[in-house]
Amino acid sequence: MSARKIIIDTDPGQDDAVAILLALAAPEEIEVLGITAVAGNVPLHLTERNARIVCELAGRHDMRVFAGCDAPLKRKLVTAEHVHGKTGLEGPVLPDPTMPLQDLHAVQFIIDTLRAEPEGSVTLCPLGPLTNIATALTEAPDIAPRVAEIVLMGGAYFEVGNITPTAEFNIYVDPEAAEIVFKSGISITAMPLDVTHKALVTAPRNDAFRALGTPVGSAVAQMTDFFERFDKEKYGSAGAPLHDPCVTAYLIRPDLFSGRHINVEIETRSDLTLGMTVADWWRVSGRPANATFMGDLDAEGFFTLLTERLARL
Ligand code: RIB
Ligand code: CA
Repeated sequence: MSARKIIIDTDPGQDDAVAILLALAAPEEIEVLGITAVAGNVPLHLTERNARIVCELAGRHDMRVFAGCDAPLKRKLVTAEHVHGKTGLEGPVLPDPTMPLQDLHAVQFIIDTLRAEPEGSVTLCPLGPLTNIATALTEAPDIAPRVAEIVLMGGAYFEVGNITPTAEFNIYVDPEAAEIVFKSGISITAMPLDVTHKALVTAPRNDAFRALGTPVGSAVAQMTDFFERFDKEKYGSAGAPLHDPCVTAYLIRPDLFSGRHINVEIETRSDLTLGMTVADWWRVSGRPANATFMGDLDAEGFFTLLTERLARL
């Protein structure tokens, strides 16, 4: 079976970095057509820089990285340095990027690629706020039927919020963008906190990364050592939740995940619950299903896959 063509839209962030590394370590299953950066965990000038740093860590100086939107559609940017550190990639000391940033705007790259590639052959993998994706869909409505699937990290239902009592960060930063995406009619698979909070990097799992004895293994272990502070303090978790790698792991081993095809709406008006993914898990609303909302994963299988693939870089 030929590799699935994807565009990774991202706001690195340590967990984004691991998701990108996993995608680049799976050439049989995934062909990364390009990486588009969006403002989120940290401002755009850092997310695009971090994306290039991660590509070079993986030895992929050839990868095309594009800068996209530097602010949400209608709101002031909210960032997450309290989780990811000032640069967004705190933990390991990594060299400044030498590979170029592409001149083309990320939104134009998304539009051009979807128009050029055969219909239904490209999957979009947003790992941050949905601003780039929503802007592309608004500027070029013709691309929506051409998207094979959107596999995104975002939202929460049983786990409720990580940035407010009711909202997950990616959705909260740009709820209007999320509403456009979830109403687009495109096939959506969502990795909410309900499943990503089960992908915890416990000490033995982080030791396995370190034991790879490679620059990638050591960098991932150091990223996790930094990134886990927030969740350990807030939730008393056993380790850092690898939110974004759930997206790329799903592309390789969808059998590791389970969820329900349900209706998911985005709160865009209430200040109290802004950015909440109102997931009709019990199907009480009568509203049509528009997303496969994941709720569980085989964590041991996930970490075995991740460790094995990172060893290849
Ligand atoms: O809420 C977790 C999500 O927000 C992850 O994608 C993390 O990288 C941040 O973007
Ligand atoms: Ca992210």
